[in-house]
Amino acid sequence: MAHPYLGFLSLFILVPLALLLLLYIIVRPRPVKIPIKNRHVFITGGSSGIGLALAHQAAVEGARVSILARSLDKLEEARNLIRLSTGIDVAVFSADVRDYDAVKRAVDEAGPIDVLVVNQGVVVPKELDKQELSEVKFMLDVNLMGNFHMIKAALPAMKNRRDRAPASIAIVASQAAQVGIYGYTAYSASKFGLRGLAEALQQEVIADNIHVSLIFPPDTDTPGLMEENKTKPQITSIIASSSGSMKAEEVARKALNGIKSGSFNVPCNFEGLLLSIATAGLSPQRSFLMAFIEVSTIGIIRIAALCFQWTWYGAIEKWHARKTG
Ligand SMILES: NC(=O)c1ccc[n+]([C@@H]2O[C@H](COP(=O)([O-])OP(=O)(O)OC[C@H]3O[C@@H](n4cnc5c(N)ncnc54)[C@H](OP(=O)(O)O)[C@@H]3O)[C@@H](O)[C@H]2O)c1
Repeated sequence: MAHPYLGFLSLFILVPLALLLLLYIIVRPRPVKIPIKNRHVFITGGSSGIGLALAHQAAVEGARVSILARSLDKLEEARNLIRLSTGIDVAVFSADVRDYDAVKRAVDEAGPIDVLVVNQGVVVPKELDKQELSEVKFMLDVNLMGNFHMIKAALPAMKNRRDRAPASIAIVASQAAQVGIYGYTAYSASKFGLRGLAEALQQEVIADNIHVSLIFPPDTDTPGLMEENKTKPQITSIIASSSGSMKAEEVARKALNGIKSGSFNVPCNFEGLLLSIATAGLSPQRSFLMAFIEVSTIGIIRIAALCFQWTWYGAIEKWHARKTG
């Protein structure tokens, strides 16, 4: 008769070890480290919120930083803020990401980029039936087409960079790129699109030693969120609050660490980590340990996700019942 410990040993030790070994062999792309020091980090939307915090942290870590946004006044204010607190100068470029020629001029003037952070984004939260098509187009143009413009403009010089060290294209999406939320019909569509862009692009640029990161911030305390809160349906805030909120500096720290470690999916808090596991699907994974966590927890996390949907639909039902008396 088999020893009773043998079953225990194979279930809890040998099977996980075999799975770890398998994942170690198969995870792709391979792990990579992206150096930041002395490299050119170009951040769009770098004059405010998460982008400004990222510019500040990258400058402190010794990067040569360029920031791009529309308002020159806000860019100068950001440059002064960074100079005052660090003594470091960042380069500023005024352009609208919706204008490809303007973006291309700025990128050419800035010089070859090692780490491109495409962070600009806008949101006008509203139910689709109350939203103007012009607002839908505005979000798609800035959040999705704007990213294509930036990446198209920067990619040729990134591919031909003299320094062959690993380079990065980091795209700031949102947790609304992982799950659709009431009031974010257009915003979510613009941000979900970034995932397709990022997954396909990673395959296209891997041979050039360029690594794509997709960052998923939750609600983050920024001027952008303050503006958004003025028109946000109350139920949107109730649902979005399931993931808590963060400070721009904390999100920037998570984002920069994710970029430096070459992670494809970069969640910013614990709820974001659960969301990333729940939505991992066929996305690339460099870490065999993270792949192990994904494989072994996916079932239980799917149950947690269904519980979230249960509470959200319950909240929507109650909210409608209250509104209609
Ligand atoms: N804050 C949140 O709760 C939150 C949550 C999830 C995801 N995110 C995402 O994180 C990113 C940063 O958000 P944030 O809250 O830090 O934003 P923010 O404080 O509103 O700052 C937005 C930045 O983007 C620039 N920008 C906006 N439209 C532009 C355009 N057409 N062309 C060039 N630059 C433009 C703005 O400068 P100008 O206005 O001068 O152009 C500003 O520098 C966005 O992609 C957002 O969707 C934010």
